[in-house]
Amino acid sequence: MNKKIYKSSTILRDTLISIITITTFLHHVSADDTAIMATLAKSLSPSPPDWSGSNPCKWQGVKCDSSGRISSISLPFKSLSGELPSILNQLSNLKSLHLQNNQLSGPLPSLSNLASLEDVNLDGNNFSSVPPDFLSGLTSLQTFSINNNSNLPPWKIPDTLKDCTSLVSFIAGKANLAGEIPDIFGSLPSLQNLRLSYNNLTGSLPASFSNSGIQNLWLNNQMTGLSGTINVIGTMSQLTEVWLHVNKFSGPIPDLSACTELSDLQLRDNFLTGVIPDSLTKLPKLKTVALQNNVFQGPQPGFSNGVQASLGTSNNFCNPSPGTCDPQVTTLLKVIGALDYPMALAQSWKGNNPCQNWIHISCDLKGSVTVINFAKQNWVGTISPAMANLTELKTILLNDNNLTSSIPDSLTSLKLLQLLDVSNNNLSGKIPQFSSGVTIKTSGNTYIGIDLPPNSPPGSTSNGANNPSGTGTKNGTSSSVSTWVIVVSVVAAILVIMALCLAIYRCYAKKRNARYKWVNGSELGHSEHENETKENVKSTSTSETPIRSSGEKSDFHVYDGGNITIPIEVLREVTNSFSENNILGKGGFGVVYGGQLPDGTRIAVKRMESSIVSDKGMNEFKAEIEVLTKVRHRNLVALHGFCENGNERLLVYEHMPQGSLGQHLLQWEELGLTPLTWNQRMLIALDVARGVEYLHSLAQQSFIHRDLKPSNILLGDNMRAKVSDFGLVRCAPDGKYSVETRLAGTFGYLAPEYAATGRVTTKVDVFAFGVILMEIITGRKALDDSLSDDKIHLVTWFRRLIQNKESVKASLDPTLQPDEETFSSIWKVTELAGYCTAREAQQRPDMSHVVNALSPLVDHWKPTLDEEESIGIDFHMTLPQALQRWKANEDTSSSSSLFTSDFYNSSN
Ligand SMILES: Nc1ncnc2c1ncn2[C@@H]1O[C@H](COP(=O)(O)OP(=O)(O)O)[C@@H](O)[C@H]1O
Ligand SMILES: *[C@@H]1O[C@H](CO)[C@@H](O)[C@H](O)[C@H]1NC(C)=O
Ligand SMILES: *[C@@H]1O[C@H](CO)[C@@H](O)[C@H](O)[C@H]1NC(C)=O
Ligand SMILES: *[C@@H]1O[C@H](CO)[C@@H](O)[C@H](O)[C@H]1NC(C)=O
Repeated sequence: MNKKIYKSSTILRDTLISIITITTFLHHVSADDTAIMATLAKSLSPSPPDWSGSNPCKWQGVKCDSSGRISSISLPFKSLSGELPSILNQLSNLKSLHLQNNQLSGPLPSLSNLASLEDVNLDGNNFSSVPPDFLSGLTSLQTFSINNNSNLPPWKIPDTLKDCTSLVSFIAGKANLAGEIPDIFGSLPSLQNLRLSYNNLTGSLPASFSNSGIQNLWLNNQMTGLSGTINVIGTMSQLTEVWLHVNKFSGPIPDLSACTELSDLQLRDNFLTGVIPDSLTKLPKLKTVALQNNVFQGPQPGFSNGVQASLGTSNNFCNPSPGTCDPQVTTLLKVIGALDYPMALAQSWKGNNPCQNWIHISCDLKGSVTVINFAKQNWVGTISPAMANLTELKTILLNDNNLTSSIPDSLTSLKLLQLLDVSNNNLSGKIPQFSSGVTIKTSGNTYIGIDLPPNSPPGSTSNGANNPSGTGTKNGTSSSVSTWVIVVSVVAAILVIMALCLAIYRCYAKKRNARYKWVNGSELGHSEHENETKENVKSTSTSETPIRSSGEKSDFHVYDGGNITIPIEVLREVTNSFSENNILGKGGFGVVYGGQLPDGTRIAVKRMESSIVSDKGMNEFKAEIEVLTKVRHRNLVALHGFCENGNERLLVYEHMPQGSLGQHLLQWEELGLTPLTWNQRMLIALDVARGVEYLHSLAQQSFIHRDLKPSNILLGDNMRAKVSDFGLVRCAPDGKYSVETRLAGTFGYLAPEYAATGRVTTKVDVFAFGVILMEIITGRKALDDSLSDDKIHLVTWFRRLIQNKESVKASLDPTLQPDEETFSSIWKVTELAGYCTAREAQQRPDMSHVVNALSPLVDHWKPTLDEEESIGIDFHMTLPQALQRWKANEDTSSSSSLFTSDFYNSSN
């Protein structure tokens, strides 16, 4: 208020001063204008034609008012160069200045306090600087245009523009404007045209656009890009042309029903999300609309015939033509609409099937959404009552966000709901009455449980704000003491398990996608199996707790549809009926086929010969595979599932596009591959060591691979390695591979004590890993019959060489040709290979030591944006660490645990 009074008094004072000045020097003023005009004439080159006589009022393009003062200078398209004199703003009666499309250069003159100035056009010149008070005090200014002055240094729209209360048009495209658009539009009631395209304006649309009379809003093509939402557009009812394309706007299109005059809406090339509102398609005067290159979702909008609409192909509309989406999609979009359509979901949720690889969602075998997991996303918004339309929901995780308002009553209608976690939000209001058996977590919501009168701010309620336990199994109104005792103990147990599950869940979060693809895949053929599949889902759910033998089952089923049984029809279809063309390779267990699921996921199907797996012990075998499908690590090839059909057993793995280490190391010439560099070999060795270390560190059931070899080390597109076939030997049924009958493993990689006694410890894998290191160093096979007797067995031969650096140098893989530095790395690995293949198992290092030894030899890590990181999950470390800790409590002596009864377990 004071400021305003001060401002107007300043203006008043200035005006008084000028009136006094004018009246005092009236007869001189004209002379002053003449002098200024003479200066102007001199500084322009060429001097404008006809600017010669002593009376500038007679010069071409110059006009004077009745008092003989200069009122207008108009010299457009005159090829004038030169600079404008800084005293130009002493032409105090100047109303109009048109200098557009010349080559004027140098500093712009200040126009400050030209209180009569109404119309300025400086377009298409080459000015080089903007004075600080350029546009202050221009109270009569109506049109200001400075398009195409790209030689200006970056300048900001001056705050003083708000003095220009008569402003109708402010036009400064390609004028190197930078910074934010000032929030001054409340002071510019007449503004109709704001055209600021092709600058470097940043920040968001100013709040004072709200209710302004702007008709033409051109803010397109900002270099860095304007950002934030475009919500304010919905309040600007005079808009006719809105050009916001090529910026970084995000969030949904607001309700545009107030924008009845809008005829041209350019929103393309932004990051806009959400469903196109009906209010847009129904705009009465709409002629042109461009929406392409955003991340819109929902139904493709249908515009009437007269509208020229560009939708592009990169939006994530549910269907390629207008029409409603699948009901689950519609509902899910309502759910995320209440969260203002988060970008991550807009990018992932494509198509019309939420079970098809949509993040934060999982489904059952029938394709119903059963889990919504929005935990820890920092999303802002409310819980949509529409969520209750997903009738198969079992688990809803909304914890650790910024949700407000209350838990909708509609959720109580979810018959299958088991867990609703809304902890750590800002929810308020009373908790609806869920049926017994639903676990509800509400801790960390200060005002939850308090039935606030509508509109009263949460802070106004004083006492009993906290729900003391924050967790409870809702049981109607009756809660006897004994129920509470049970509840408390269950809660305690659940909390412990949840802590573990959470750790594991984070590890799984990415891999989950692969699992859910399965769920779709299995839809292909099996409606008659519905009952059976339901059974399966159930039984899998109960064994879902990733730590199998923890003795307690958690109700925390984050993974649903964890069904590992995959119908044979699906596998037939994706492998073209096990066609020759789909063969990826052949191995000891059988043939491996490649295939692609309808959603594009590639898989590898290992078809085992029936002789390998007897029917006897099949259940045991299945049980083991069920565990293996849950063993997940980025250096282990994921086992998606299993199929049993007659005598056939099929294992379904994640597809590894670059084949095996064996191929790259030993068969590269035949296959036309480039030999691996030393750095690639080290990266692969470290990946393998990490994968095996993880297997060894699994609690309860320390997996021993037993068949580590280069053909079981598979490579991804980035040449990163994953270990395959883990755990299978162990879980072969009924002593098939026990001491008496046959040794598992492959000759050449067998540790001596294993070969001699069948005694299996993790050190068996360490030995095999040592042999692999030797193969990596020498490029030789573990067993090579073609060589002389003393060289057939790589380990025996190479261990002798280790005595002597020079002979190691002479035995390296000839493709390596190392320099000194590389050789020192090779030498360290040589020594490590020696330790790993020590005769005495106890003398071999643990896999974790191997990891530690190899890590420093691998080229420095470079940041890459892989999906794991973008989800923000620390998925490499958490599971093994959590399990190691878990394990530490179980058996204190780790060395003895390595020699425990793994072997005996497997054979009894
Ligand atoms: N998941 C997979 N992705 C791609 N190729 C695979 C996959 N699994 C196996 N292969 C190919 O099939 C070959 C045989 O595999 P496998 O039966 O595991 O070998 P082995 O019995 O020798 O361990 C591998 O060497 C590899 O080329
Ligand atoms: C604009 O001025 C700069 C120097 O300030 C000069 O290098 C450039 O050539 C001029 N551009 C035009 C189109 O006159
Ligand atoms: C645009 O503005 C941003 C931030 O203000 C700045 O970092 C960037 O360098 C500018 N770009 C150009 C091309 O001037
Ligand atoms: C749930 O779905 C029905 C029909 O599919 C629809 O009429 C209803 O509005 C939906 N409820 C909510 C809250 O979206």
